[in-house]
Amino acid sequence: MELYVWGTGCGAGDLLDHALEASLVTAFVDSEPLSDSFLGRPVLRPEELRGREVDLVVVASRRADEIAAKAAELGIGEEKIFFARDNWRLFDRNRDYAAVEGVLDAAFLASLRAPQRAVRDPLWVQEKNSALSERDLENDYVRVRTLEAICRRLASVPGAAAELGVYRGGFARCISALLPERTLYLFDTFEGFDESEAEGEGKGFVEAHRGASAERVISLLPHPEKAILRPGFFPVTAAGLEDERFCLVSLDADLEESTLAGLRFFVPRLSRGGVLLLHDWDTPRLAGVARALERYEAEIGQKLPAVPLCDVNGTLVICG
Ligand SMILES: C[S@@+](CC[C@H](N)C(=O)[O-])C[C@H]1O[C@@H](n2cnc3c(N)ncnc32)[C@H](O)[C@@H]1O
Repeated sequence: MELYVWGTGCGAGDLLDHALEASLVTAFVDSEPLSDSFLGRPVLRPEELRGREVDLVVVASRRADEIAAKAAELGIGEEKIFFARDNWRLFDRNRDYAAVEGVLDAAFLASLRAPQRAVRDPLWVQEKNSALSERDLENDYVRVRTLEAICRRLASVPGAAAELGVYRGGFARCISALLPERTLYLFDTFEGFDESEAEGEGKGFVEAHRGASAERVISLLPHPEKAILRPGFFPVTAAGLEDERFCLVSLDADLEESTLAGLRFFVPRLSRGGVLLLHDWDTPRLAGVARALERYEAEIGQKLPAVPLCDVNGTLVICG
């Protein structure tokens, strides 16, 4: 069977780690490939599918509309496309699961079939223009809208904004759009995780995070002039910022030691009224994040004031 996976980001990494045998994949497809190969398979541009025999395309990206349109242009019939990452929507665009039964993991398919819940825009969004685009909201509506709500309260809170764990810049783009006046520190290796820290993590997860580029992140930001990149391994890259204060921090380093380093650096520097968003605090696959918080709270001898979010990855909102 000629099976193609469309996407080479986290969605594809997760799919291969948990729901699809790598040996079944002929090649990956990506319109903006960062490398010629992914998990040992070639990465093709969409145009290279033209004229190939295609039995099945599993879409592992959330850009479902764009990819559906491109596939149609390439003459790939709808019946050959399966959307493995469209369950943020209120409908399931996969009418037929038969083609992927036995190919994709059964529990994964059941999770895609589960009914979705409606989420309504808050009133301020209905009444006014938002600085966010539809695309910003595609990944995790609750996480991004909550960020917007928090930023609306930060006007009188002093300090810079920062993100530890930027990856391809999706969330950094939102912070830049919502806090256009603030200095925005962006900390990432831009080459993925430290190898020893990521030992034991899935191969797909690790390789997908290598595909980041600082230049591309900067080109995405609406206010690049306010961004200060700190490439390299945190906390080494925080040197010289000891006197800085922060109104907003996105801590999204995924792994335990780096998360702990982030808490140790940022929590004492959070302004009163400021907020630290601890991403993946309630993600069972990344249990090191919650452990890092427990260790930090044991170190300082107190619980931090915090509110859990019901977003996709279980962010914890820590208050300064
Ligand atoms: C989940 S991704 C970040 C996703 C991003 N915040 C978003 O929402 O689009 C995690 C990132 O953390 C980075 N990272 C983890 N530990 C780090 C450390 N100690 N120093 C620098 N970067 C680190 C990895 O390179 C990876 O790009």
